[in-house]
Amino acid sequence: MTFPAMKNDLILRAARGEETERAPVWVMRQAGRYLPEFLAVRAKHGFFEICRTPDLAMEVTLQPIRRYSGLVDAAIIFSDILVVPQAMGMEVQMNPGPHFPDPLVTPADVEKLTKNVDVDKELGYVYAAITRTRTALAGEVPLIGFCGAPWTLFSYMIEGGGSKTFQKCKSWLFKHPIESKALLNRIADICIDFLVGQIKAGAQLVQVFDSWAGELTPHHFAEFSLPSLQRIATGVRSKLAAQGIPAVPMTLFAKGANTSLAAIARTAGYDVVGIDWCVDPADARAAVGDKVALQGNLDPNVLYGGREAIEREVKRMCEKFRDGKAPKAWIANLGHGITPGVDPEDLRCFFECMQKYSKA
Ligand code: CP3
Repeated sequence: MTFPAMKNDLILRAARGEETERAPVWVMRQAGRYLPEFLAVRAKHGFFEICRTPDLAMEVTLQPIRRYSGLVDAAIIFSDILVVPQAMGMEVQMNPGPHFPDPLVTPADVEKLTKNVDVDKELGYVYAAITRTRTALAGEVPLIGFCGAPWTLFSYMIEGGGSKTFQKCKSWLFKHPIESKALLNRIADICIDFLVGQIKAGAQLVQVFDSWAGELTPHHFAEFSLPSLQRIATGVRSKLAAQGIPAVPMTLFAKGANTSLAAIARTAGYDVVGIDWCVDPADARAAVGDKVALQGNLDPNVLYGGREAIEREVKRMCEKFRDGKAPKAWIANLGHGITPGVDPEDLRCFFECMQKYSKA
């Protein structure tokens, strides 16, 4: 497949560890409910209908790129981490949060999952959306693909939706560690094929979201999440190599795993490590060393604090990431997704402040 030449590859250079003339910036959930143009599409279409209809997924992916043209340095394909459990045979509804009518209750329920999932067939609609969107982007910014981490997907598949306590999925880890690891690896193998398919379809960087990493003790993170994250990084690279396809940078965002950053940088095998706002960027850099780029980490709630606060906090963040003698490869982002209710013009202010303060 050939695509238009890139006019802005800042994020790809930063992801490869290069210090850039200014920090590239994008925002997790940048295509989402804070945007009136997204809500207008959403009023007419179901959430998974948008995911499954390449033209609609492309349209909402492009919305923030159009609105913030020249200010944002990457697009992320519109989809959801929960398309993987769907591909494995589970029903997932969005009403309004994610809901699994028939979650996994005991390890025997794993039998209900589809055996030998044909990932390219089940999730081919994501690939179609990626190819179309990358073409439509015309090289303006790179396109990011993604998937959920096995531990985070495991938690949704067992809890049946969001959870505050994670009681059900953690009981599995204690009572059924062997079956849990088998399921985590099974999810990882789907993620590997899914990411390879996204890269073949045109994704130029891929991110793995371990949104619930911080719910685990550091030793449980090391035992149950990290091995499946490593498996994904290694598996994607070796499958690409076997097919003669050039590797793309890989990002891991293990939200809340701030005491595991050193272990992540040492063993997980990703090029970029995402961090949330609960860790100081200079401390994160000290923990990860000089082999990876960092991504993050403004508290998303700063976007509710008014423009003076946004400017002050962006300036502080830029100083922290550009601090000291350490290598400075950095992709600016929030420390988690942007939330519905943010004024899109306040997000513009965030992007403008980034232009002002992030010059090397
Ligand atoms: O970043 C982007 O703009 C790309 C699109 C994207 C969505 N979800 C769209 C979405 C991405 C990258 C995700 C990832 C995702 N989905 C994660 C990992 C990132 C994170 O935030 O931790 C998780 C945990 C999910 C699961 C999920 N999907 C939840 C918990 C929810 C409900 C959230 C809420 O705020 O109510 C969703 C729904 C969802 N995914 C929405 C969007 C725009 C809102 C649903 C709607 O339009 O009604």
